[in-house]
Parts: sequence; C-alpha cells; structure tokens
Amino acid sequence: MMSTTERVGPCRVAIAGFGTVGQAVARILSGDIHPSLQLTHICNRQVNRKKVGWVAPEVVWTEAFDDVLDGSVDVVVELIGGRSPARDWIEQALAAGVAVVTANKQVIAHDGVSLGQAARQADRPLLFEAAVAGGVPIVRSLREGIAGDRLYRIQGVLNGTCNYILTRMEREGVAYADVLAEAQRLGYAEADPTADVDGFDAQAKLAILIAVGLGCEVGVDDIPLGSIRPISAIDFSYAKRLGCVIRQVARAELLPESGQIRAAVQPALVPDDSSLARVEGTQNIVVVDGEFGGETAFSGFGAGGEPTAVAVVSDLLAIARGAPGRQATDVQARRPVAREFDAPHYVRFMIRDRPGIIAALAEVFSRHAINVDAVWQEPGWAKTELPFVMTLESCGSASVTAALNEIGQFDFHVRPPLWLPILSRGEARA
Ligand SMILES: NC(=O)c1ccc[n+]([C@@H]2O[C@H](COP(=O)([O-])OP(=O)(O)OC[C@H]3O[C@@H](n4cnc5c(N)ncnc54)[C@H](OP(=O)(O)O)[C@@H]3O)[C@@H](O)[C@H]2O)c1
Repeated sequence: MMSTTERVGPCRVAIAGFGTVGQAVARILSGDIHPSLQLTHICNRQVNRKKVGWVAPEVVWTEAFDDVLDGSVDVVVELIGGRSPARDWIEQALAAGVAVVTANKQVIAHDGVSLGQAARQADRPLLFEAAVAGGVPIVRSLREGIAGDRLYRIQGVLNGTCNYILTRMEREGVAYADVLAEAQRLGYAEADPTADVDGFDAQAKLAILIAVGLGCEVGVDDIPLGSIRPISAIDFSYAKRLGCVIRQVARAELLPESGQIRAAVQPALVPDDSSLARVEGTQNIVVVDGEFGGETAFSGFGAGGEPTAVAVVSDLLAIARGAPGRQATDVQARRPVAREFDAPHYVRFMIRDRPGIIAALAEVFSRHAINVDAVWQEPGWAKTELPFVMTLESCGSASVTAALNEIGQFDFHVRPPLWLPILSRGEARA
C-alpha cells in the first residue's frame, strides 16, 4: 500500500456503515467540493437494501469487509458503531496498511490506547474527531490549537439528547417523560435512552477528552455517573431561585499532588450566566482550562449526520494532505479516577408532611459534618406530596451520599431525595 505522502491522485476512501453518518459522509464525498477525496467502496450488512442512486456508479457496494482491504483503498471510515466488530475491523485495516477514520466513541474510549499502538506499528493514522462532540473540532483543537498550554481541567455538555431534554423542561416546564417521548419522535433520542440519559455516552466522550487533553488513560467505567431521570420540573424553578440552570455536566480535573484524575458525569446546577448554561437544545460545549492560556470554550452541534460527517471529512482531508497529526490517544500514564468532588449541594426532598422532618434531616447532616445553608419551600403544594429543597455548604460528594443513604431510611419520603452539586463560577465559568 502506498504511503499517504507518496500518493498520486485522490485519496481513496471506503465507508463501512451506511447509516446516518455514513450516508452524510457519502453525500459530501459525492459532491465536487473535495477533489482530493474519492469514495470507492461502501460496506454494510445486507447491502442491497442500502443502495442509492446518488452515489457514483463506479463505487463498489459490498457486505464483505475483506473486499475493502483488497489493496485499492487508502482510508477506511468506520461508521458501524458498537465495539464489535468495529474494533476488529479497525485493527484489520491498520494491519493491511490502510489509514482509519472513525466516529466510534465506544471503541476509542475503551480500546483507543491499544489501537493507537497498532496504528503506530503500522505507521498509519487513526483519527477520531467525530467521536467527541460530533461537529465540534475539539480533538484537533486540543492536540494542535492549544497544545502549547498545560491543561488541568475539562468540562462539557457532551450529550445533545440530555441537553435537549433539560433545556425543554427548563423553558416549558414539561415533565421529563413527555420531553423524552417528544425527543424520541423527533429522532433526538434512541428508543432505549439509557446510554444518553444515564450518562454512558458522555462518560465515553469524557474518557477520550481526558486522554487527548490531559494525556492520561482512565478506566471508562471508573468515571462515576448520575442520571437525569429523577429531575422534575420543580427542580428548575428552585435552580432559578439560586441563579442556576441544570445541565448534564461531564468534568475532569488533573490533581497535581496525587497525579489522579477527578472525574464525573452527572446533572449539576450551573450559574445561569456561565458558558455551560448558554448551550441550548442539542448543542454541545467543551470548556478547557490551561495553566497559561486560561479558559477556552468550543461549542456547536454535537450530533446529527451532517455536523458529524464534517468532522469525519476533515479527518480525511488531513490524511489526504499527508498531515494527520498525532496518533490515536497518545497517553503518558494510566491514572486512577478520584470520584470525590467538593461543592455546595442542592438536595430536593418530596415528602408526606408531618412535624419534625427538618429537625430529623438536620440531625443526620450534622452527624456527617455537613452544614445546611438554607431551606426553601415553594407554597401551594399538597401536604401529601410536598417538595422542598435544602442547600448544603461545600462538602464532599461521599459525605452527601452517606448522609442521604441514612436519610433515605425515613418513612416520610414520597420519592427518593435528589442531590445535585452546585458548580461555582470557577467550575462553570462565565
Ligand atoms: N448519529 C450521530 O449523530 C453521531 C454523532 C457522533 C458520532 N456518531 C457515531 O457514528 C457511528 C455511526 O453512527 P450512526 O448514527 O450513523 O449509526 P447508524 O445510523 O445505526 O448506522 C450504522 C450503519 O452501520 C451498519 N452496521 C452496523 N453493524 C454492522 C455490521 N456488523 N456489519 C455491517 N454493517 C453494520 C448498519 O446497518 P443496518 O442498516 O443493518 O443497521 C447501519 O447502516 C457510531 O459509532 C456513532 O456513535 C454518531
């Protein structure tokens, strides 16, 4: 196989996976804006039902991935999703001397380091701009645009589905279940929304950002998760009183003393004039802090066929130019994940009212050395299902969890208490 620098003529591209992103990539390659790229193969299971008339007649349609590696392709674009067989296909392509571009966050988050080694061994690029924040060029920006800085913190709203649900609930006071059903109807949420709303999608993306931006490998599953499912319309009205909105926030910090990475993906209260608050609907944002350059924010469409295809095609152009940049996830070390963040906390209770409840809660918090900052209760709710909120002064998430495990044993709860960290302006910068 010819090296990318020796190639004469356009870079020959095979697409594996002709779904939402694969079709959008093929559309761009089928136009005339990138003469340095030539679509040559489309590989998909049961490929006959996928054929479309707008693809050039010389493009080879196939079900067999081996056909793609027959020596007539320079780059494979892996867009089938999932870990298997995607990982094997990427390895096979690299071993055959073929460069790879992928949008697959699961494969890169879990296997990026070993695939990076395979790419180095094969001396072929493996690029994955589209795997994090879709059309937002965050991977290249971290590697090249602000590579001169020493980054110590990365925060982001990385899941468009969650952000769509939370911003609709906030603006229109609609219940979680209703917004989710609408998001599913509009194609913004999967039939099974678990990966999005319970944080797994953002967890994989955060693990990649930690590798690329902070230079450390972490166990993807070690990053703790919190779901957005228990959030109700009432939480937005209390958040507003506190000058905040609610976002699913993915955050990671390098702790210089211990060398650990502190990371979490969970819903949080963020100041309503912060960068994280400003991102609405299906948009994503990544905010990074560096020792020398301070804060830099990157935002845009984090998903959708076309924005994601732009990221894929940009990777293809880098390869066609023979300037693909650094390989996969060039990490310096595997680091443990510290799960503990200190922050003020918002705790919402939904109770059957009776005398002595506040005293009982205050006693438990006090035993866990947690100071209650304020108690908030909006009027007009039935005593049988009464919401109220306690805000807690800054304390560790482990103390809050321990206190709430104990509090959860009381018999006055109608729903389990919900706790959310309140990120300060320093953490969710304006
Ligand atoms: N959609 C987005 O907005 C977005 C954004 C960022 C990143 N991504 C990533 O991009 C990748 C593709 O996503 P997508 O939304 O385009 O998915 P998709 O619409 O489900 O498309 C996947 C395509 O791959 C085919 N496929 C799946 N498994 C296969 C296998 N084992 N052998 C052959 N073909 C197979 C599917 O065929 P069938 O038609 O038979 O199912 C389908 O055509 C994923 O890694 C995803 O995480 C997507």
